[in-house]
Amino acid sequence: MTVGFTDKKASRRQFLAGAAAAGAGTVAASAASATGGDPLITEIQEWAQATGDGVDATPYGMPIRFEGDVVRRNVEWLTADTISSINFTPIHALDGTITPQGCAFERHHSGAIELAKEDYRLMINGLVDQPLVFTYEDLERFPRENHVYFCECAANTGMEWAGAQLNGVQFTHGMIHNMEYTGIPLRTLLNEAGVKTEGKWVFVEGADASSNGRSIPMDKALDDVLVAFKANGEALRKEHGYPVRLVVPGWEGNMWVKWLRRVEVTEGPVDSREETSKYTDTLEDGTSRRYTWAMDAKSVVTSPSPQSPIRHGKGPLVITGLAWTGNGAITRVDVSIDGGKNWQEARLAKPGEKMALTRFYLDIEWDGGEMFLQSRAHDDTGYVQPTKDQLREVRGLNSIYHNNCIQTWWVKPNGEAENVEIS
Ligand code: MTE
Ligand code: CO
Repeated sequence: MTVGFTDKKASRRQFLAGAAAAGAGTVAASAASATGGDPLITEIQEWAQATGDGVDATPYGMPIRFEGDVVRRNVEWLTADTISSINFTPIHALDGTITPQGCAFERHHSGAIELAKEDYRLMINGLVDQPLVFTYEDLERFPRENHVYFCECAANTGMEWAGAQLNGVQFTHGMIHNMEYTGIPLRTLLNEAGVKTEGKWVFVEGADASSNGRSIPMDKALDDVLVAFKANGEALRKEHGYPVRLVVPGWEGNMWVKWLRRVEVTEGPVDSREETSKYTDTLEDGTSRRYTWAMDAKSVVTSPSPQSPIRHGKGPLVITGLAWTGNGAITRVDVSIDGGKNWQEARLAKPGEKMALTRFYLDIEWDGGEMFLQSRAHDDTGYVQPTKDQLREVRGLNSIYHNNCIQTWWVKPNGEAENVEIS
C-alpha cells in the first residue's frame, strides 16, 4: 500500500476505502485479471464445490485447525514437572477481554483433580452459629450473580524483576485470565451459617492434595467474594476448579481457591504456607511484605509483541493491549512508541470495569522505523503504573510476586519485536 498523506485520519479513511473496494471485487478483479488473475477470486474453490460438515459433526466445537497455535504454553525451565506447575494464556493472539476457558492459564500446586458434582461438599465451620455442609445441588438453590473479573497469579511477570527475560507477552504477562463468573456471594453462605462476633477472618481451602489454604479478612469475604460454578456461561473446566471455585475479585490468583471444600471462620489469619513462605514479597533488606492481596494497576501491549510481529510493513498499524487493576477500574491508558519519552492516550474499547480486563487500542501510521512500545495504566484511585526502575527502587530485586511495571517491546524495522529494558 502506498500512502503519502500527512493527515493521519484522512490516510486511514482512504486506506480503508481502498480495502473495501478491493473486497467488493470490481477494482481488484479487473486489476487481477490484467496480471493473470488471483485464483482465490477468479476460480471456484474446493470448499464451494461440495457441502461442508453437517450440524452433527461438532457436538462441542473446538477452534478451527488454522488457529491451532492459539494455545497455552509452558516455559520449559520453569516447568520442572507439570503437576506443580504453570502454563500461560496466549494473550498475544486474543482480542476483546474475555478469555476462553480452553486457553486460560492454569496454575496447580498438586495437579488438576477430577471431582464429580455428586461427590462435591462444601463445609462452613469454625466461629459460626451453625456449621453447615452444602452439596452442589444445595448451592444451585441460592440466588446467584454474574460478574466479569480478571484472575492474575501474583507471580505474573515475576521472572522479569532482574532484567528482560522471556521473549513473549504470553510468558511475561500470560498468568492472567478474565471470565464471566456465575456464583453465589460467599456472604450469603456465611449468613446462612451465622458468623459469630469473634469471627474476623475466613480460612478457605480446596479439595486437592495441596489444599492451597488461604486466610481472607472478613470484610472482603462479606463484600464481593463469589462461590462460583460457571465461567463464561458453562461449567468450570476441571483445570479451573470444577465444580466450584472461589472468586476473589482484584486479589492475587492464589486466593482463588479451586475445588473449594471448606470455609472456616476464624479469629485471625492462619499463617499457612501460602501466606508466609510463599506469596509474600521479600524486600532489599530481607524483610518481607505480607498481605499484599490486591493486584495493582498494570497494562501491557499484546500486539505488536515478540509473538505477534508486524507483517504488513509501514502504514496503518493497530497497537493493542490489556489493562487492569485490582483496586477499582481503569480510567486511562497511555501508549508510548519511543520508550516513554512521549505518551499518547489510547482508546479504551469500553469504559474500564471494576476488577476486569480493559482492552485498549492506539491506531497509528507506522513510519517503518524502530519503536520502543510501552503502555501505562491509570486507575480510579489515581494510581499510575510505575516504570521498572521506580518499582525496583521501592521493592528491590528479591521479589517474585506483584511485578506491575511498565513493559517495553523493541519493534524493529522488519516488524519483529523483542523484550527489552529501558532505563
Ligand atoms: N486452588 C487449589 N485448590 N489448588 C491450587 O493449586 N492454585 C492457585 C489458585 N487456586 C491453586 C488454587 C493459584 S497460585 C492461582 S494463580 C489460581 O488458582 C490459578 O487459577 P487457574 O488455574 O484457574 O488459572
Ligand atoms: Co498463582
